[in-house]
Amino acid sequence: MGVNIRGRSFLTLLDYTPQEIRYLLDMAKEFKNMKRCGVPHRYLEGKNIVLLFEKTSTRTRCAFEVAGHDLGLGVTYLDPGSSQMGKKESIPDTARVLGRMYDGIEYRGFSQKLVEELAAYSGVPVWNGLTDQFHPTQMLADLLTMEEKFGCLKGLNFTYMGDARNNMGNSLLVACAKMGLHFTACAPKELFPAPELVEKAEKIAEASGSTIRLTEDPEEGAADADVIYTDIWVSMGEPDEVWEKRIGLLKPYQVNSTLMKKAKPSAVFMHCLPSFHDTRTTIGTDIAERFGLPEMEVTDEVFESGQSVVFDEAENRMHTIKAVIYATLC
Ligand code: CP
Ligand code: NVA
Repeated sequence: MGVNIRGRSFLTLLDYTPQEIRYLLDMAKEFKNMKRCGVPHRYLEGKNIVLLFEKTSTRTRCAFEVAGHDLGLGVTYLDPGSSQMGKKESIPDTARVLGRMYDGIEYRGFSQKLVEELAAYSGVPVWNGLTDQFHPTQMLADLLTMEEKFGCLKGLNFTYMGDARNNMGNSLLVACAKMGLHFTACAPKELFPAPELVEKAEKIAEASGSTIRLTEDPEEGAADADVIYTDIWVSMGEPDEVWEKRIGLLKPYQVNSTLMKKAKPSAVFMHCLPSFHDTRTTIGTDIAERFGLPEMEVTDEVFESGQSVVFDEAENRMHTIKAVIYATLC
């Protein structure tokens, strides 16, 4: 039977089968080709979507806006603090109001529970644009990028270096398990993903024929990898005070050229962005001054190297988000 995800929310990849993920990736490829060839695809003219952002964003917001416009949708953006949500109006009430006006709702914020509550009450598809726990639209872009680079996903050796229990670590663990990539989380023990999630991922991996490995040893983690992935060491919403401890914990996991040499010669470097690979940001400068560290999770050399595919990932956010919007609203 064909895949049909019309009317579904997109909150975490845990809710999606490998066949459904494959369907979205294939649709994203078609949209990417259409965009490249200048073929119009205003298939959703007359519909409207709203984007709720309680945390800042460049890629996710722009991807939703451009994808929405390309599909002919009306798009409303509500920035942090400019709606009644949470302060004067509960989430169930907000969801029911927005569900009466819009055909779909994107939410970026803190709790996964909140995005689930929006989905439960709105009566329209809700798309998770990042919570503290998961970042599922990023996963589609990353899977598409790897497939473009290697021609396949199944059997690739994927290593995630750094804070393996943040939204990216959690999401990549699930995405790799679903799509048959061998997943290694390389981090200090206290930043390993939660045991309950690892257990779930192990069951999923069993079905897809892949493996899950957790290691504290960066050399072991990087050995034979096809992909080395990292993310910032302190995520949005975490207090400034955690920087010192986090730097102490994660410095040995910095992705530098010595570490990249442990991976396969054909390996690629990936990062969801934004990244602290130099001091050309206010936070980057501040950390360099306070802790004497001019590059953090990845060195500028690796970030700018031929192995880095970070801007392909960024572009693919738009094509994959377009597929999610279209497949759930069409
Ligand atoms: N990768 C990502 O979600 O980027 P933004 O925070 O800019 O949306
Ligand atoms: N872990 C990062 C991901 C940003 C896309 C954060 O939550 O800030």
